[in-house]
Amino acid sequence: MTTPYLVAHVTDLHIKAGGKLSYRVVDTAGALHRWIDTLLAAPQRADLVVITGDLVDFGAEAEYRFLRDILQRLPMPYLLLPGNHDSRSALRAVFTDHDYLFANGNGEAPVHYAVDAGPLRIVGFDCTVPGKPGGRVDAAALPWLQAALAAAPTTPTLLLLHHPPFYTGIGHMDEQGLENAAALEAVVRQHAQVERVLCGHLHRHITRRFGGTIAMTAPGPAHQVALNLDPQAPSRFRMEPPGYLLHWWHPQHGLVTHAAPIGDHGPAHPFFDGEGKLID
Ligand SMILES: [Fe+2]
Ligand SMILES: [Fe+2]
Repeated sequence: MTTPYLVAHVTDLHIKAGGKLSYRVVDTAGALHRWIDTLLAAPQRADLVVITGDLVDFGAEAEYRFLRDILQRLPMPYLLLPGNHDSRSALRAVFTDHDYLFANGNGEAPVHYAVDAGPLRIVGFDCTVPGKPGGRVDAAALPWLQAALAAAPTTPTLLLLHHPPFYTGIGHMDEQGLENAAALEAVVRQHAQVERVLCGHLHRHITRRFGGTIAMTAPGPAHQVALNLDPQAPSRFRMEPPGYLLHWWHPQHGLVTHAAPIGDHGPAHPFFDGEGKLID
């Protein structure tokens, strides 16, 4: 493919049934609508949306039905990956037509998949542990990942996880991080076509080198985990400006990631007046 391809990456929607507030403070459904408004108003239309987990707050089917109603506003396809707040079986019970969710089985089987998307390949790797906030790379699942990556060694690939495979310095989140990430890193390092490892869970944008590629978390569309690098800092969130990531694939320039704010920030202004003079 010779034309650019745009992937919008949003995460940690934490939708509650009926639009109830999360933690009595956060209107997560309203936040998702604002993100979709932002996406639809952008000058370039994303070709694909990826959502890296904590899709809903308690893993209830009613929450997934409410989420599905909101996501119907998206004119482009979207791919879902569960996070620690999700239920694999409830997710599958509502998104029955999302075939990739069943590529590795049904019910509580981990949601692993590999999907071709324009010039890219999207590999979802489910490292959640039902009932636990932290994640774990299951050694028994790594041959699947190895084979999925080996199947398309020259196709630029985005690997989706919920938990980032690195310490972030935010102590209470690192305590519920990803176990056995070194084994995952050894696999990723063998596949140079992995352009990004895209994650959620942290509700803020963080980047680190990983396995010869770049791993990053996306900001949340609603609440952000408070930025406090004191390892003893309490678990807190803040209503900081929300955001998402736009991954722009260009056949000559490769994959470029833009962090974009959510919301209406007014019109785009010129730097120059009508006669070409700089406006100071
Ligand atoms: Fe989350
Ligand atoms: Fe999470």
